[in-house]
Amino acid sequence: MTSLGLAVALFFHVLILSVTGAYSATFTIVNKCSFKVWPGILSSAGTAPLPTTGFALDPGASSSVAIPASWSGRLWGRTLCSEDPATGKFACLTGDCGSSGLECSGSGAAPPATLAEFTLDGAGGLDFYDVSLVDGYNLPMLVVPQGGASSGAGNCTATGCAADLNAACPQELKVTSAGSEGGVACKSACDAFGDPQYCCSGAYGSPNTCRPSQYSEFFKSACPKAYSYAYDDGTSTFTCASADYEITFCPRPSTSVKAAGEQYGVAAVASGGIASSSWTPPPSAVAVVVSATVWQLRQLF
Ligand SMILES: *[C@@H]1O[C@H](CO)[C@@H](O)[C@H](O)[C@H]1NC(C)=O
Repeated sequence: MTSLGLAVALFFHVLILSVTGAYSATFTIVNKCSFKVWPGILSSAGTAPLPTTGFALDPGASSSVAIPASWSGRLWGRTLCSEDPATGKFACLTGDCGSSGLECSGSGAAPPATLAEFTLDGAGGLDFYDVSLVDGYNLPMLVVPQGGASSGAGNCTATGCAADLNAACPQELKVTSAGSEGGVACKSACDAFGDPQYCCSGAYGSPNTCRPSQYSEFFKSACPKAYSYAYDDGTSTFTCASADYEITFCPRPSTSVKAAGEQYGVAAVASGGIASSSWTPPPSAVAVVVSATVWQLRQLF
């Protein structure tokens, strides 16, 4: 073959690969919270970078991100972010990635943070995805596959943690901040106590020796489909083929991470998993929205 022929053959080979090759997904990220959320995205080592690694999402807004074929990584929400007027540095009270900016640029979330984890086009050509509370919890989050095919096992379904666990969080795990005593996040027991038994490390570093704890059970009972500790795989990993994914913060009519009243948070937990669709806001929701707005105004000044 002439070198021109070779170049032409190569060109068509690449063209055909790009047309028939692995599926590139779209993530649609939706903020149904009554407050602003700053999504952060971290690509795993060795996978293609994304067009964005962090941005702001107003209440009610959504944003689509083109995901390269075979991407793997994690996505989470940062809350209560602001820019220091003196230094210009951007920081968030929860889920901060330490980049001092909107983009996380290769840095992950500081725990506690609810994580959506993906391995697209992995073993058997399947997408593997889950929502994890192993590093704690900061926001309700739901992952809904769209247009994907179920594998033989057939669990190409929604997963996540729709409950608001901040107010309900056990006192010893709760993260509060000035003016938000209801809680802004909920630590994992590993993060709070550093005990190998909770961290599934050392002698507890296997599925046989690391068992659920009273703390992981708290997360699991509120959010049965989410990872509650490191070896929670069987009930927490989902698979699809060639799907797009909608990732929603506060999938239910939401409380404020800041202003949620205790009874509001507990009510959300009591109503359980992610399937409930009959939820209606209690009268206190109005007060929550008002106080969240007041809080946002305070952030501005
Ligand atoms: C989903 O299917 C995969 C593959 O068969 C399996 O490993 C996993 O445990 C299933 N997850 C759930 C939540 O049933």
